Amino acid sequence: MASLLQRIAAAGKTYEGNEAGSREDLINLSRARSFWAESAMSAHIRLAVDVQLFQHLRDFGDIGLSAQTLAEKTGLDVLLLGRLIETSSFHATALSNGLSEEIYQHSISFGYDAARPSFNAFPEYFKKIGYKQPTSLTDGPFQDAHRTQLPFFDWLVATPPNLQHFGSFMAAYRAGKANWYDPGFYPVADRLIHGFDSSMSDILLVDVGGGEGHDMTLFAAQHTFHPGRIVLQDREPVIASVVETLKADSPFEAQAHDFFTTQPIKGARAYSLHSILHDWGDDDGVRILENLKPALRPGYSRVLLNEIVLSEENPTLAAASMDMMMLAHFAVRERTEADWKAILERVGLKFVKIYTYPGVAESVIEAELAS
Ligand SMILES: C[S@@+](CC[C@H](N)C(=O)[O-])C[C@H]1O[C@@H](n2cnc3c(N)ncnc32)[C@H](O)[C@@H]1O
Repeated sequence: MASLLQRIAAAGKTYEGNEAGSREDLINLSRARSFWAESAMSAHIRLAVDVQLFQHLRDFGDIGLSAQTLAEKTGLDVLLLGRLIETSSFHATALSNGLSEEIYQHSISFGYDAARPSFNAFPEYFKKIGYKQPTSLTDGPFQDAHRTQLPFFDWLVATPPNLQHFGSFMAAYRAGKANWYDPGFYPVADRLIHGFDSSMSDILLVDVGGGEGHDMTLFAAQHTFHPGRIVLQDREPVIASVVETLKADSPFEAQAHDFFTTQPIKGARAYSLHSILHDWGDDDGVRILENLKPALRPGYSRVLLNEIVLSEENPTLAAASMDMMMLAHFAVRERTEADWKAILERVGLKFVKIYTYPGVAESVIEAELAS
């Protein structure tokens, strides 16, 4: 315990100095918790979402509110409230205000309603399959837990509001971390903007499977004077909901595209695939890249895989946790550098370089057409 406290104090100092990666070090160090208390804590926080507890705390600000008032606002019996939260006066904190935001409310619901049952299913599921690695996208712990044969993404679409909750979860997972297009990470100016050539295509960047456009919104804000157009691609239902809210001055266009079919935008400067291939096994990953390959202009188009590159010796908490999410929901794994190189080689793409940023789980693996 003494050594843990010393390490937390040291990490706290580097955090105060705003050092890159120090926030993640602190999160890693604070993972020591009581195993048996975890279940109750996550149930409490999920219940708090239903009764809008964090929003009521936020609305009363610094004044705070009594147990009686909070019980009335939430509809909780005052004695039950007292047991769930063992305090007699209630005030908002920076944390509770953060949790009142929609992306965290949705993320809590996604974690509890969609992900947690998949992990609860581990013991039974692995006993059933003889403690082997699952290999099917339609027959894993997730399907057992949710009594479905649908692959995870189809289930999200078929069971509202899970698709929306998942979108928020992805945004929350990334919040506060450097993005691949931020200063000090992938050199956007040198590798994409410099040398941009609109003679064959005026598209700078295509975000393949880009979800709700989180990355493209921030990319455009970070690189205000970028040349060329930016296109967000995803499946039809996702793009339909994006288009509903797309403003006339949106910095990107949206296009429905199934990445298991041939890439329709030819010769763009770059194609980014953020947390895409990790959802799929090697054969499907190869198919996705093979469908992209004919669109690439030799010596010009860059493929940017924004993915975890799993350290074999010492994976971070974020990387190891994401690997477990993959096991539970997609029957796949996060990949090491050697795994990534092997996939690129199978497709006939040339590995160029891996770019990393301190404390950020995902790296950028840059590839291009092999000459
Ligand atoms: C893990 S999310 C990543 C989203 C986004 N790139 C990000 O990093 O926030 C995977 C994305 O792949 C999309 N997707 C799944 N299957 C797809 C397909 N066949 N074609 C296109 N997009 C697909 C999902 O809708 C989802 O938006």
